[in-house]
Amino acid sequence: IPVSITIDPAFRVGPVRRRTFGSFVEHLGRCVYTGIHDPSHPTADGDGFRKDVIELTRELGVSTVRYPGGNFVSGYRWEDGVGPVAERPSRLDLAWHSTEPNTVGVDEFMRWTKAADVEPMMAVNLGTRGVQEALDLLEYCNVKGGSRLSDLRRANGTPEPHDITMWCLGNEMDGPWQIGHKTAYEYGRLAAETARAMRMIQPDLELVACGSSGVAIPTFGEWERIVLTEAYEHVDLISAHAYYWEDEGDLGSFLASATDMDHFIESVTATADAVRAHKKLAKRIHISFDEWNVWYQHRAESQPPTGDDWPVAPILLEDRYNVADAVVVGNLIISLLRHSDRVHAASLAQLVNVIAPIMTEPGGRSWKQTTFHPFAQASRFARGDVLRVALDVATYETAKYGDAALADAVATYDAETGDVALFAVNRSTDEPALLDVDLRSIPGLRLVDASTLANPDHTWQATADDDSSVLPRANATAQVADGHLRVEVPPVSWNVVRLT
Ligand code: AHR
Repeated sequence: IPVSITIDPAFRVGPVRRRTFGSFVEHLGRCVYTGIHDPSHPTADGDGFRKDVIELTRELGVSTVRYPGGNFVSGYRWEDGVGPVAERPSRLDLAWHSTEPNTVGVDEFMRWTKAADVEPMMAVNLGTRGVQEALDLLEYCNVKGGSRLSDLRRANGTPEPHDITMWCLGNEMDGPWQIGHKTAYEYGRLAAETARAMRMIQPDLELVACGSSGVAIPTFGEWERIVLTEAYEHVDLISAHAYYWEDEGDLGSFLASATDMDHFIESVTATADAVRAHKKLAKRIHISFDEWNVWYQHRAESQPPTGDDWPVAPILLEDRYNVADAVVVGNLIISLLRHSDRVHAASLAQLVNVIAPIMTEPGGRSWKQTTFHPFAQASRFARGDVLRVALDVATYETAKYGDAALADAVATYDAETGDVALFAVNRSTDEPALLDVDLRSIPGLRLVDASTLANPDHTWQATADDDSSVLPRANATAQVADGHLRVEVPPVSWNVVRLT
């Protein structure tokens, strides 16, 4: 398949934003307990956090981590998770039909973010709670001292404020499954009043209103319009959540999932801009794509326990990812990057064990899923500005998205260092693609390296025993000559080419 690509610094979209490479830790299944936190593990630090997982988080290149949920946050009482651990209550977590022991709370999590060198993104409960509890948590976290809750934080062992900048005003309040689910108007009002009051404590917070939980939800579009009509002046970002999976026998649609993400981002941007026009405001609302991933939600492992069974940290949503899943994850990163003018933050959901790139055995090994690699490479090599590429390739027919391009790509260019990175996927299930990349707008570029993640069996999955048989490998076909890069990439593949 011939693919013609042109890279030109004139096609600048926006800067590469480090917050594009965020992730998410929810009190769900084994993400916190036996995931990031496992006091029985040989590498555990003083708080019980696994240092091997912290190392993998750093290697993954994660910038921000959203916490503590997710659906969990809509029934969470943050006060349960502070103070002496032995005195903390166990609570029913209705969202995941589990028992929450509250061993880890906001102070421990904040120490974990420091160890992992990531920025926190804190969510407040707007499901069962409201303005007052959001203010209480903000006071506890960000006020220096001299008030009841800031002094409580100090008494609990954190003399300096946590200084959390990004706050999510609830989670998926459009979803009928959400505890405290609301109409767009009800939520828009609550988000506006919560934001307004939070800014009375700290005006410079970056506040994220809940957008839609997916394009397919019936309120999509209208939800954003109404919420922003109520809250536009008070918030900075609106969230977007999307999960993709391969329906039996429809690999073609699955590989084109990024077209749906493109549509999601462009629709929300258009809606936010329409509200802006109507309100005659200069300020723009940006997108926090703070849950995205491949997730096989209809499989048994995604169903919470039922009845009298309320386990602590059950195995939930522990999807095993194959090579095709990793290619889709790479393509979703391409979509996020090419919208870096409007997508100012994003979070891969989630970080450990729960639909995650990092897996752990309780007390034992940690290992990388296939999806670890495209994220780690993009986070490491995307630098400078994002360049939209001109891409010419044949299309194929998909059941879900109509005609889709057989390949997709985005580039980044760091004008200071002269480094260029090209990220590309081949969506064909049976044919290699020959990328012919016109580099003449950046004279003198030479090849640094090229790598490909693929496997003749695209259903190959990593395991704890073998997480490295299928890694990004050097692609020896890459060559630069006459201002063109030429590289052959196999079917169902994720590819990175670096030039300087
Ligand atoms: O990430 C898993 C769940 O997906 C989150 O708890 C929720 O916000 C979304 O529906």
